[in-house]
Amino acid sequence: MINMRRIWFVLIAMFTSLGVLAQSSKHDEIAQKVDSVMNRMTLEEKIGQLNQLTGDGEVTGPVTLNQDYQQQIRQGMVGSMLNVNGAEYTRKIQKIAVEESRLGIPLIFGYDVIHGYKTIFPVPLGESSSWDLEAIEKASRIAAREATAAGQHWTFAPMMDISRDARWGRVMEGAGEDPYYGSKVARARIRGFQGEDFSKANTMLACAKHYVGYGAARGGRDYNTVDMSMRRLHETFLPPFKAAIDEGVATFMSSFNELNGVPVTGSKELVQDLLKDQWGFDGFIVSDWGSIQEMIPHGVAADKYEAGDLAMNAGIDMDMEGHVYIEELKNLLNDGRISEAQINEAVRRILTKKFELGLFEDPYKYCDPEREEQELLSEENRAFARKSAQKSMVLLKNEGVLPLSKDLGNIALVGPLVQADEEYIGTWSARGEGRHVVNVMEGFRNKLGDQASLTYAKGASFTGQSKEGFDEALQKARQADAVVAVVGESAMMSGEALSRMNIGLPGLQQELVLELAKLDKPLVVVLMNGRPLAIPEVDEKAPAILEAWLPGTEGGNAVADIIFGDYNPSGKLTASFPYDVGQVPVQYEHKNTGRPKVEGQRYTSQYIDGPNKPLYPFGYGLSYTSFEYSRPVLNKQQINFDETLRVQVDVKNTGERAGEEVVQMYVRDLVGSVTRPVKELKGFEKIALEPGQTKTVTFKLRADDLAFYTRDMEYKAEPGEFKVFTGSSSEDVQSASFKLRR
Ligand code: BGC
Repeated sequence: MINMRRIWFVLIAMFTSLGVLAQSSKHDEIAQKVDSVMNRMTLEEKIGQLNQLTGDGEVTGPVTLNQDYQQQIRQGMVGSMLNVNGAEYTRKIQKIAVEESRLGIPLIFGYDVIHGYKTIFPVPLGESSSWDLEAIEKASRIAAREATAAGQHWTFAPMMDISRDARWGRVMEGAGEDPYYGSKVARARIRGFQGEDFSKANTMLACAKHYVGYGAARGGRDYNTVDMSMRRLHETFLPPFKAAIDEGVATFMSSFNELNGVPVTGSKELVQDLLKDQWGFDGFIVSDWGSIQEMIPHGVAADKYEAGDLAMNAGIDMDMEGHVYIEELKNLLNDGRISEAQINEAVRRILTKKFELGLFEDPYKYCDPEREEQELLSEENRAFARKSAQKSMVLLKNEGVLPLSKDLGNIALVGPLVQADEEYIGTWSARGEGRHVVNVMEGFRNKLGDQASLTYAKGASFTGQSKEGFDEALQKARQADAVVAVVGESAMMSGEALSRMNIGLPGLQQELVLELAKLDKPLVVVLMNGRPLAIPEVDEKAPAILEAWLPGTEGGNAVADIIFGDYNPSGKLTASFPYDVGQVPVQYEHKNTGRPKVEGQRYTSQYIDGPNKPLYPFGYGLSYTSFEYSRPVLNKQQINFDETLRVQVDVKNTGERAGEEVVQMYVRDLVGSVTRPVKELKGFEKIALEPGQTKTVTFKLRADDLAFYTRDMEYKAEPGEFKVFTGSSSEDVQSASFKLRR
């Protein structure tokens, strides 16, 4: 027996080292190939590799020169294109690079494949509410399969900016407010896009963006300045980026914002020193669109020359549609402001990825019209988009209204989102099209056939103050057995450059819902939106609320699945929904203060006109069944720094339906050298339970999990007393205590 075990160990060790050897020899081989290409390159051609231009697709910033990019490709002045789409078209453009430029170096095509390419999944904030990492990974896998068939090598995703400000339009693109959960989601998305092997024709490079702090834009206004402590930066905003490196992410994108006075795109400290030198990131870093030259209006560079100087010395390898590197690097080199070694280093990083993708062997392998035809919007992909949408939806309230019976005779569907196909796919929807969307009206029809009579009234618009549509909507609602109001934000109300200062239901939609609520009919409010909304009045008056987000191509089917009980909702919020925009930023992870709120006591930390807590907290979401939690049971009351604490909790399905529950674990360090949050998420597990079934969930905690940036900015755990909480949301928890000792 012992001998067998020994043999296994030896064999495993052998295979592991063979694997490592194979990897390092592949690495060496690519390094040699890169050298041999670089030996033949002129300085101009090298600088060309650092230049990324936009094609004819979505343009998200100023196009600085209205130049002929094809001519520049021919001249070897372009290393990468973004916004060039489709198997045929990318082939055509690639052909120019490969056949008409002097060295024939293939281009790398990048695109914002954020929540699907043609088959669109829920917006990322919605998708993150599934707490289902496998499903999240799979959606990215499908997006990569579609995008690569259509010629793309590289997605500018995932966005991993933590944000605690619902005003910011780009909360829709991330995974919410929490760094622990955000890191897990970032890794799942990277795994999905990149797969195991870049050289496969259906995997693509991912991009960790936007490095860093972009989600903390002052006032929630996009592109605005960011000012935060280094402790906050390291504890909350950097972890997903570090996790991305651990997951092997291929590229990074530097953000638009300044951080504590220095635009990140020009920050040697954050890019070169931390990301490349300290963390050892060996892929390449692209600027955000024009973010190099935006250092001029930021006010740290007088002109493009100085902006290029800052960016190159910060370690930015590729200039996205800024034309700074192509215009200025040679001058900077001649003046000794930058070195040739720096240029070579950037070129090397980019060419390495081109080799890893296999582009030198077959520059056209991603441009495959046949695969494109089969892959895009395939039945399988659509089926998964439906699953993904189901999993993302969060039941916010249900006073016995849901699920609706399929036998209802007459259902009124009211609201501007009932059949607004274009809105369902949100912004950043790549090549997704409204005409492929199944809207809620169609979803209901698919579910009920001719069995029920479905009436429709728009009722209200996203903007304006007109009540013109109210009468028709109320009349149809009066005649119905149940009313479903589909309200929220249009696609163009969340995403880049789409910040809002008012985060309620836009237009007169809230008034419409409140009027409908007065009719005393079974009323279900279905919300579609790309950010947390402040909707306390709707919460007070509507008996049932389902958060459906901007749910993507199969959104209407998924809504119908939940409303009629074919899918039991299992999503939980990953961003707190405030009562009012005045509470922002509001998140579960906050400090206690020296005067924590005491009800009725004036001189404690609170508002005089509303609660401190959000309307719906992080981790919150209901089900059609109910779950009962035991208290957390610990295997020890004390652990040493090298021991593991086991935290066990029993969860029982006490209702009548099978259901899924996201079991959550939080900790609090009671006394530290610096103040610590009242709760921090440290574990979660999504479990499925049959009616009456109980499962025991076991979490593990080690000293490493309790580490933070101490008074001396050292990352470590401190001995002392801790609380551990388990439960169904960040607020609905039970606790136990333990000690960490030396
Ligand atoms: C956005 C990036 C995006 C880029 C390319 C920029 O405006 O901030 O997230 O990847 O455009 O489209």
